[in-house]
Amino acid sequence: MKHNLLQVLAEMKDGYVSGQQLSERLGVSRTAVWKHMENLRKEGYVIEAVPRKGYLLKERPETLSEAEIKAGLSTQSIGQTTVYQPTVTSTQTLAKEAYREGTPHGTAAVASEQTGGRGRMERLWESPEQTSLSVSIVVKPDISLREAPQLTLVAAVAVAEALQHTTELPVQIKWPNDIYINNRKISGILTEMQAEADKMQMMIVGIGLNINQKQTHFLDDLREKATSLYVESGKEWSRVQILQALFISFEKWYDIWIENGFEDIREAWEKYAALYKRPVKAVQGNKTIVGHMMGINREGVLQLKDENGNVHSIYSGDLE
Ligand code: BTN
Repeated sequence: MKHNLLQVLAEMKDGYVSGQQLSERLGVSRTAVWKHMENLRKEGYVIEAVPRKGYLLKERPETLSEAEIKAGLSTQSIGQTTVYQPTVTSTQTLAKEAYREGTPHGTAAVASEQTGGRGRMERLWESPEQTSLSVSIVVKPDISLREAPQLTLVAAVAVAEALQHTTELPVQIKWPNDIYINNRKISGILTEMQAEADKMQMMIVGIGLNINQKQTHFLDDLREKATSLYVESGKEWSRVQILQALFISFEKWYDIWIENGFEDIREAWEKYAALYKRPVKAVQGNKTIVGHMMGINREGVLQLKDENGNVHSIYSGDLE
């Protein structure tokens, strides 16, 4: 149906096609035509609807492809091998498969849509076709298992910097690794690893970005909490441009981490940190710790000072 609808719209070139004509050509009701139009809009098609004239296809969404992602990409390793699929269950799985087949450090698994996107703490991650970006990067760091959680903070700094530099929007990191703009979440990061005995084999950094969703595209419970670059800036963004900026920034911060250790990452992370030096609540399951956010320590562990002056190390959970 989608294909047929797009074909009729495209045939009209500069002209409008009425709801009635569409319903006759496609053999469905006018309400069904309208619903399909709404779905196409959610995917990034710009369709004008004018009373008594009908529908006009004005813009198609940008297509992603391996060739476009790699064109002019100035990194050494990150993204230089890219596996792209329009729709996957999760790019984490695609990246794991590539790793098993011996893919090099820096390989990126990219999808336009995920049907089973995963978030932290077994939450779901919405990644609608055309308007979102899902990427999982395979890295093979020679680090101890103790240092592994730092990579998520490296990725958070990289995402924050890429978005800030490209869009000039006020980007913040909410501990541990959510990326926020104007108090709403725009990106989430999920890091998974594979180790044998005490030796790190590989890590997969999964990054989900809301790019061109309109506010109404977020499901009810997300509408107040989530945002996209489109919502914040009022304009559409090229996913290829954002992805390339992300690869460049990720490579920069990853190399700094591997070569110089965590200190530079800690400083950059605190520069972007939401709630820095502010009163917060750290929620870990049914345990809550209230205190002032002191930042992260040399290992990347969140430090909260309670009202008695005791400093608590927080390893996991959410911050409110
Ligand atoms: C979170 O905020 O809880 C983390 C969300 C991580 C989502 C990304 S999208 C790319 C990769 N594939 C997944 O299934 N999850 C991560």
